[in-house]
Amino acid sequence: MPSGKYPSSIAKAAALLLLFAGNAFAGQGANVDPFAVNDGNIPGKTKYKGPLWRFNHDYPKTLPRSERPWTKVLNGKALTQENAQAYIEALKQAVSDDMRIMVTQPREWNGKTRNWYSMPWAGAAVQKTDWEGREAIYGTYTGQIQPASVYADSGLTVDIRNYAAIYYNDVAAYTLHKVWQKCSKKKRECPPTLSNDAAQFEEGSLVVKAAGVNASGKQWPVMQGAAKWQIYRPPFNSKGTIPGKRPVVSDIYVGIFDIIVKDSVAAPETGWVFATLVYDKDAPGQDAWDKMVPLGAMWGNDPAVNSAWYPEQPLSETYINPSAPAYATVTLGYGGRLSGPFDIAVKNHVEVDGKIVDKLPSSSCLSCHGTASFHPGVFKPLTFFYPAQMPLTSPWKMVAPGSAEWSEWFQNRPGNVPQSKEVGAIALDYSTFLQAALMNYAAVETARKPKLMKGVKDDFWETWRNWQKARKH
Ligand code: HEC
Repeated sequence: MPSGKYPSSIAKAAALLLLFAGNAFAGQGANVDPFAVNDGNIPGKTKYKGPLWRFNHDYPKTLPRSERPWTKVLNGKALTQENAQAYIEALKQAVSDDMRIMVTQPREWNGKTRNWYSMPWAGAAVQKTDWEGREAIYGTYTGQIQPASVYADSGLTVDIRNYAAIYYNDVAAYTLHKVWQKCSKKKRECPPTLSNDAAQFEEGSLVVKAAGVNASGKQWPVMQGAAKWQIYRPPFNSKGTIPGKRPVVSDIYVGIFDIIVKDSVAAPETGWVFATLVYDKDAPGQDAWDKMVPLGAMWGNDPAVNSAWYPEQPLSETYINPSAPAYATVTLGYGGRLSGPFDIAVKNHVEVDGKIVDKLPSSSCLSCHGTASFHPGVFKPLTFFYPAQMPLTSPWKMVAPGSAEWSEWFQNRPGNVPQSKEVGAIALDYSTFLQAALMNYAAVETARKPKLMKGVKDDFWETWRNWQKARKH
């Protein structure tokens, strides 16, 4: 029967179905595939002709040998203000062969599998956690949204959203093997193993995260000449992804490149060094990778420095490159602790002691990542990313800056000690991405086995969705 003969109500219903099948939350409830490559939205051949992103989850089953050339810079000593710049440069050098391609030649990168790995439970969208999944062209995740005003000084003219690609090196992927060893791709089952410190990362683990924004060099002069990626995502507004809109092939420009490394000599108290490179259009070099310059590194939260009470006290566990481009320094965290341009360590319009504060630096790389934890069997979210009072209100009521409670977010804990005091809480060694993947697992698991949620009074998924939303603005 020719389609013209269908009653219009059926045509409408079919159109609606199509709309839902194409939206970010297709494939819900118990049916989410933990090994989904992407969110199921694939651009047609007329829109994008290159190779699509592939999901490497062939994790090493034994601990790989690692060279760790960056450790040579320190001669067995811990990081300091003096040696941090050389250390960041050495980290960059160590990933350069692969990451120059990842950053500057997307089609070449997509065409071949390398020894860099990705996370299960992150490909498909999951409605209950507000997870939007991995986009098909370059495997990126949707990130934070910032108004143009944040970068008024550097001439940004549009609101921006960042989209991030995250990769684990072989040593870090060995931990992914330990955590996900019970998974079966065939059965679409993937429960985590977290006992006996399985979620702790081994020395030499590297995790990289590169993020691009929608603003071109015309809309934000600091992005002139930056590496360009194509991604397949629906449009966004200040509230997030616009519901019901189809994805479009869009250009983004790479502004940051994070490298985190497990190195207990460099970072004796936390075990991790968090470093960020930012794009500097005026830096010397042949291509956009050469022009990614250190913004800084942090290897501890400087718990001994109460920056709220003594703002002049210098930090000794954060290093900021004095010649980093100016645009990247307006978003540093609490007391100048390291945070990157798109991480939102500075919160706007929050309440402190009953007064509205326009800009409050309230986080840092390690402070936010230090909250990463999971409660197996219970699943409820444990520690919010920021020192804000619960439940979140609008505007947020912050914990008093500098108070003992505030300082809980700025301690130096080993990766297996959770910030939360809840019995049974498991610390995830600063891996917020693993936390997000575990919450996606938990959302699907509880949909499959509703009994698990029996006796839970409030719907904590709403809390978790609020936390995710809150972090992205
Ligand atoms: C306010 C919270 C917050 C701050 C500040 C922050 N991050 Fe993250 N980061 C996250 C979350 C949450 C994820 C998980 C991915 C996602 O949901 O986007 C993440 C992901 C990552 C990843 C991927 C692996 C992982 O462990 O999750 C790296 C690497 C990373 N961030 C590095 C950094 C560095 C370097 C800084 C500081 C320059 C930083 N982050 C600051 C919240 C934060």
